[in-house]
Amino acid sequence: APSDPDLVERARAAKEKLGEKVFVLGHHYQRDEVIQFADVTGDSFKLAKDAAARPAAEYIVFCGVHFMAESADILTTDDQKVVLPDLAAGCSMADMATAEQVAECWDVLAEAGITHRVVPVSYMNSSADIKAFTGKHGGTVCTSSNAERALRWAFEQGEQVLFLPDQHLGRNTAVRDLGMSLDDCVLYNPHKPNGGLTTRQLREAKMILWRGHCSVHGRFSLDSVRDVRERIPGVNVLVHPECKHEVVAAADHVGSTEYIIKALEAAPAGSKWAIGTELNLVQRLANRFAPEGKEIVFLDKTVCFCSTMNRIDLPHLVWTLESLAEGNEVNVIQVDKETADFAQLALERMLALP
Ligand code: 13P
Ligand code: SF4
Repeated sequence: APSDPDLVERARAAKEKLGEKVFVLGHHYQRDEVIQFADVTGDSFKLAKDAAARPAAEYIVFCGVHFMAESADILTTDDQKVVLPDLAAGCSMADMATAEQVAECWDVLAEAGITHRVVPVSYMNSSADIKAFTGKHGGTVCTSSNAERALRWAFEQGEQVLFLPDQHLGRNTAVRDLGMSLDDCVLYNPHKPNGGLTTRQLREAKMILWRGHCSVHGRFSLDSVRDVRERIPGVNVLVHPECKHEVVAAADHVGSTEYIIKALEAAPAGSKWAIGTELNLVQRLANRFAPEGKEIVFLDKTVCFCSTMNRIDLPHLVWTLESLAEGNEVNVIQVDKETADFAQLALERMLALP
């Protein structure tokens, strides 16, 4: 639906009033009505880098989800404030690994006698606590665009990896990019004693995968790939690595949101694409590339928007910008110093990956 013209005007006026004081970052899964006000858009890696590049703004308004705003807070200077327009914009995957559960898991690994050779690798989609745990234990953060490099780095530091919280990104990267077999991976279930694994399994696995997943990407199935290939002969299937292994294995291309956009920019006119990622992005790409004669469809019509990304809407953005313009600081995300220091270690290891 087109954005409410009154709200568009209010957002524009508040942003103009704030001028250089505000910098708006927008993740690719954000609504069009929000994206139109972003100074930069990107995948989670690009946005972390853009925040770390420290634009000379007092306020970074992060149109994305909570873990992204936390990471931006950790990577920006102390006098810069990161603002999340709706505090309820979380991520169900990030919530699948709590600090207590991860500490308990580390105890289980210690009990198995393997902590000296396990390197934790945490997906960006995790709370600052989990990133701090990772930094403390010599590990790195990764995103979907550098997971392969992060894993290669981790296997230079140790012999086993604890990958959390997204089992799919961990498995897909290990198997697709590092040539491991599915048997090299075990699944650690935080709701079971010992993660549901024997000591032997823990000792022999190369990849210990946390049992977390994305509720949006988890809904694409092998059937959706088969159906679209039948419906649209010659279609290129391009999916995000948060999809299940069988979906990724059946796809033609796999990559982060930024990768998906670049692949479609480079695609020839007349090509056909089925995209397996969040719907706001797919709709925007379908509209953008239709005039160039590129046909872009959603991989599975039953999969919907990311409901937490969608919480950031134009009314929340207007409220945020107007509050800041009036001198009221709202929804500031601030990670406590001890957590931030350890999390920063893990984030900076990621930014330094070759
Ligand atoms: P990327 O933008 O890094 O591809 O991540 C997708 C995602 O799920 C963010 O929550
Ligand atoms: Fe989290 Fe999935 Fe939404 Fe990304 S798309 S923010 S991983 S729930």
